Amino acid sequence: MRHEVIEKSVNLMMVLIVIAISIGGLVEIIPLMMSADATDPDENIAPYSALRLAGRDVYVREGCYGCHSQMIRPFRSETERYGPYTTAGETVYDRPFQFGSKRTGPDLARVGGRYSDEWQRLHLMDPRALVPESNMPGYPWLADRKIDPELITSKLKALRLLGDPYTDEQIASAAAEVDGKTEMDAVIAYLQELGTNRRARR
Ligand code: HEC
Repeated sequence: MRHEVIEKSVNLMMVLIVIAISIGGLVEIIPLMMSADATDPDENIAPYSALRLAGRDVYVREGCYGCHSQMIRPFRSETERYGPYTTAGETVYDRPFQFGSKRTGPDLARVGGRYSDEWQRLHLMDPRALVPESNMPGYPWLADRKIDPELITSKLKALRLLGDPYTDEQIASAAAEVDGKTEMDAVIAYLQELGTNRRARR
């Protein structure tokens, strides 16, 4: 009978639904926010250097995640091909993370050091020069565009406000680190580091 009262009153029903969903949501979200596994960086994981951060922004802007995931699942078929599976603790400085799920191309979570810088450069200029059957687009304009040193300094400062442990020296030297570098240099620096910290631990 009491249930009938609720069913006949839309407002009461709405309030109770909101309460029920909130409790369910909090039970799922709060433990995750507290869990060290998800919020503390793994050993060897540091915030991105200025040049790599700039490269990561190019990666996001160009939509590389539309074809490449950075998330190795804990299955043998994945770890045999790409390396150790991805943990939450190695992505704490990724804002936003680049997990993705679309794999037109291979996963890139452990691609760092797999090829030379020169290979990466030629591949980004014209993928088919190296991999004839590739359907990845070329990104030749990255070689003509310079990184803005002032902008990268502000980005480091903003990330420090959000809790990333950049030191004063890192912020002071950020502009010099990217000065004269192209977006191509930056994205290669970013790619060449991907997964290397994690692999070192194996
Ligand atoms: C339309 C889909 C597509 C987009 C967008 C794309 N890629 Fe690719 N990528 C591929 C495919 C397919 C391959 C495999 C063939 C090859 O090596 O070219 C690949 C291969 C790669 C490889 C070599 C990986 C390995 O393990 O052999 C790297 C590195 C890479 N892409 C980086 C990038 C970057 C950086 C961007 C953005 C600037 C990007 N890709 C955008 C499809 C894409």
